[in-house]
Amino acid sequence: MANDADTSPIGRTRALLQVEQLSAGYDKIMALHGISLEVPEASVVCVLGANGAGKTTLLRALSGLLPVAGGSVAFDGQSLAQVPTETLVRRGIVHVPQGRMVFAQLSVRDNLVLGGYTRRAAEVNDDMDRVLSYFPRLKERIGSRAGTLSGGEQQMLAIARGLLSRPRLLMLDEPSMGVAPILKDAIFETLREIRDRERLTLLVVEQDADIALDISDYGYVIETGAVVMQGPAADLANNEDIRRAYLGA
Ligand SMILES: Nc1ncnc2c1ncn2[C@@H]1O[C@H](COP(=O)(O)OP(=O)(O)OP(=O)(O)O)[C@@H](O)[C@H]1O
Ligand SMILES: [Mg+2]
Repeated sequence: MANDADTSPIGRTRALLQVEQLSAGYDKIMALHGISLEVPEASVVCVLGANGAGKTTLLRALSGLLPVAGGSVAFDGQSLAQVPTETLVRRGIVHVPQGRMVFAQLSVRDNLVLGGYTRRAAEVNDDMDRVLSYFPRLKERIGSRAGTLSGGEQQMLAIARGLLSRPRLLMLDEPSMGVAPILKDAIFETLREIRDRERLTLLVVEQDADIALDISDYGYVIETGAVVMQGPAADLANNEDIRRAYLGA
């Protein structure tokens, strides 16, 4: 049960991640225009948006891969301005990139070991069994080269690799992309299980609104780098505009 220190004055769980008026972009274009959002501890928050809306840019700015041009980001009450990615990983912010990016030539096990690069080998070993218990398919293929796994299995590997950094906030960039429907459900079911068991906080960006809202507590919709709608996931799932734009209704 949350104690008072975990609860903000408005009665909600304290935000683990607090983003205020964030702007970021590339050489010539600003891709994010003043995004504000918050992710309460132990919740699942999704950011929905079409191709090019700025979802990946948002996660890259939050994980220090892209400079922040304006606004502020606080994690657990501390500013993240100018903090290098490796330090962010040590503090518990882990980003599973779009397109998975597993090392195709390395075994499943070696990919997982690399996920724990900021931690001591003995600690990583201890966690390996626990993480693999969520992904029995990976356990079966532990010695195989990662490049021989299916798209969905590679996504599981990317998530499992992220978990081996012991994240407090796990940020996932389109975990459903290029994954067969049956494995998509398995992946989201597993994310739900991990959230429930480990009090992990998740920020998921997705084009697949249906599956993302299904595991989320709260959602934001972004268009051309700005938040255009937000609300409890159940409300967004029933919203006519969202159903038309993202759920093919
Ligand atoms: N490396 C880059 N250099 C210049 N512009 C970029 C770069 N990466 C993305 N952009 C532009 O920034 C905007 C946001 O792109 P972003 O990749 O964040 O979208 P997205 O929501 O992740 O899309 P998708 O669902 O297709 O992955 C787009 O206009 C895109 O063309
Ligand atoms: Mg993207």
